[in-house]
Amino acid sequence: MNNFEFKNPTKIIFGKDTIAKLQNEIPQDAKVLLLYGGGSIKKNGIYNQVKSALEQFEVTEFGGIPANPEYAILLEALKVIKENNITYLLAVGGGSVIDGTKFLSAAAVYNGDTPWDILTKHIRTEKGMPFGAVLTLPATGSEMNSGAVITRKETQEKLAMGGPGLFPEFSILDPQVISSIPERQLANGLTDAFTHVLEQYMTYPIGASLQDRFAESILQTLVEVAPKVLKDPTDYQATSNFMWSCTMALNGLIQKGVPGDWAIHMMGHELTALFGIDHARTLAIITPSHYKYNFEAKKEKLAQYAERIWNITDGSTEDKAQAAIDKTEAFFHQLGIDTKLSEYTEKYEGTAEEIAKRFTSRGWKLGERQSLMPEDAEKIVKMSY
Ligand code: NZQ
Ligand code: ZN
Repeated sequence: MNNFEFKNPTKIIFGKDTIAKLQNEIPQDAKVLLLYGGGSIKKNGIYNQVKSALEQFEVTEFGGIPANPEYAILLEALKVIKENNITYLLAVGGGSVIDGTKFLSAAAVYNGDTPWDILTKHIRTEKGMPFGAVLTLPATGSEMNSGAVITRKETQEKLAMGGPGLFPEFSILDPQVISSIPERQLANGLTDAFTHVLEQYMTYPIGASLQDRFAESILQTLVEVAPKVLKDPTDYQATSNFMWSCTMALNGLIQKGVPGDWAIHMMGHELTALFGIDHARTLAIITPSHYKYNFEAKKEKLAQYAERIWNITDGSTEDKAQAAIDKTEAFFHQLGIDTKLSEYTEKYEGTAEEIAKRFTSRGWKLGERQSLMPEDAEKIVKMSY
């Protein structure tokens, strides 16, 4: 096991009817900016619950943060923060709203030329403007981590940022919010969380038995609840397990002491930046090809995953590893998710070369051994057509 340090300061408030508890978490004298997305919270009653919890607070609102939070729109919110002397941010939404809020938390205290620097110059935020979240969509884990991914349409870029100052102070997780989520987003959430675990698990054996079993238990739980959540998003038992699994998949715990890959996400982000494909679907496009291409390096963990998640016990390590890749792709299909780029766009020719070019200009080497070069990414993306 590798050495590690672990600190996660986010307070989780989990369970039925917990949104009202919001009022106990925000300082009484705060000037709050309530941030939300395209309006789903106004249809499903979450907005009303949040507003009544915030009755005694001075609240300004900023709605309209789109999926894949857009830099230009976030700059408008930054103006609102400055003009209204906002002191506390409250994200009410999924990963996009929470990530957008993290960017604002960082940008509100940033003194450089342009806040875009935070993304391009890898500026880590040690202390941002304080913020909390009411999660409306289980998927990204953003509610309990310190990372964010921001999109800039103008340049077709999608870049990551973070820092120890960007954990939410608290996140409220009421699984009842899941009842209004459309099937497409439920499938996305299951796929994203599943892939988050894979990114931190499907590397090489390092003797971290507990981390492996934490990771496997999240995968098993997601496989078990997936059909139930899709069939009935009001099934509290299934949705509560789904929600907590998504948080646990990316709150830092399972990454401690083990190598991490994350190349699937890096290639996937480019597909969202270029084609606007939902984040989770880009992962399902890349994952099978990535594991086929890096088969030798990953076959031992693939075989362990085959045995422990998919009950494949016959055959050699290679046989099991291959079967595991097939099972993973079949799982995505079972969720209704296509796994080929050509199923999302007709304009896929040239994509692999463009991504390799971008990775070269950024000097990126990816994967758990930092040995995946831009030309490897090019081949993997091509295999995903
Ligand atoms: O915008 P509204 O109208 O609210 O609708 C949203 C949006 O259209 C809707 N929705 C959310 N909660 C709902 C609901 N609809 C009905 N009922 C509810 N309760 O769902 C749509 C998608 O929302 P979004 O926040 O975009 O989804 P998700 O949570 O999947 O977030 C995706 C973003 O997070 C980033 C992705 O790259 C992408 O930009 N990620 C963030 C990570 C992190 N911070 O750790 C890690 C991930 O790997 C990922 O990269
Ligand atoms: Zn993800």
